[in-house]
Amino acid sequence: MADAHPAVTYGSYLKIDELLSLQQPRTDGEHDEMLFIIIHQVYELWFKELLHEFDRVARLLIDDEPHRAQHTLKRILTILKVMVAQLDILETMTPLEFLSFRARLEAASGFQSDQFRQIEFLLGAKNQAAVERFPEGGRARVALTKRYDAPTLWDSFLHYLSREGYPVPPAQLARTVTSPVEPSPEVQQILIDIYRSDPKNADLCERLVDLDEGLQEWRYRHVKMVERTIGVKRGTGGSSGAAYLASTVGKPIFPDLWEIRGQL
Ligand code: HEM
Repeated sequence: MADAHPAVTYGSYLKIDELLSLQQPRTDGEHDEMLFIIIHQVYELWFKELLHEFDRVARLLIDDEPHRAQHTLKRILTILKVMVAQLDILETMTPLEFLSFRARLEAASGFQSDQFRQIEFLLGAKNQAAVERFPEGGRARVALTKRYDAPTLWDSFLHYLSREGYPVPPAQLARTVTSPVEPSPEVQQILIDIYRSDPKNADLCERLVDLDEGLQEWRYRHVKMVERTIGVKRGTGGSSGAAYLASTVGKPIFPDLWEIRGQL
């Protein structure tokens, strides 16, 4: 009788056959297109893993487990560093090598990455128009809508601080989670107190600053890569290209954590 449960193998567990069938260049053998496809697919897998870890951080904050939340944030930061470093690989592709297949991308662009928008949303940069770009009922639209309506990481952090006994204003705890996180003098005072006399939570704050800086670092390196690869040409996604991307660099995710640094 045939074994109903064949032994697990490396290939069956990791779905290697399926994975290796997913790289489908649009050109007829332009060498550099394979790298472009693989690197984007790897990024999407890292985005998936980041979302998985961010969900855990939120859960751990809700469960009042700051040490484990910090541990998970460290993992997220390590992944972010690898993601930034990976841009070096794509920078080995010259402008002419990119041009050998760019036209075949048509209007496709990283601008349409729903997982990247999910990460932005959970960090507080929400945008209804970004949700509506995805077809209704599809995986991306469903996932993004859920993130749009959910509290941000900053909201979980403020609720955690409130349970730690800090006087977070009720208006901050009840804020509309779909609106941008605005700087708050009351929250800043709490953060100053934490930095001065609460090392456990000061460490947690530092990990959030690392995260903020890490994402800005990715944005900066991405725009530099774009400048050296396509100069001032417009993006395939229809934006002005490098100029649009440059406008997204340097915007803090957690403004209060930056605001207080001059006051410490
Ligand atoms: C040669 C390589 C690349 C070029 C020339 C490039 C170019 C661009 C441009 C011009 C935009 C602006 C939107 C548009 O009009 O298309 C953009 C956005 C974006 N790209 Fe890239 N990109 C490259 C590689 C990558 C890689 C490897 C990723 C990894 C996932 C990526 C992710 C993104 C994301 C997430 C956005 C949206 C950013 C935002 O809206 O803030 N790109 N890219």
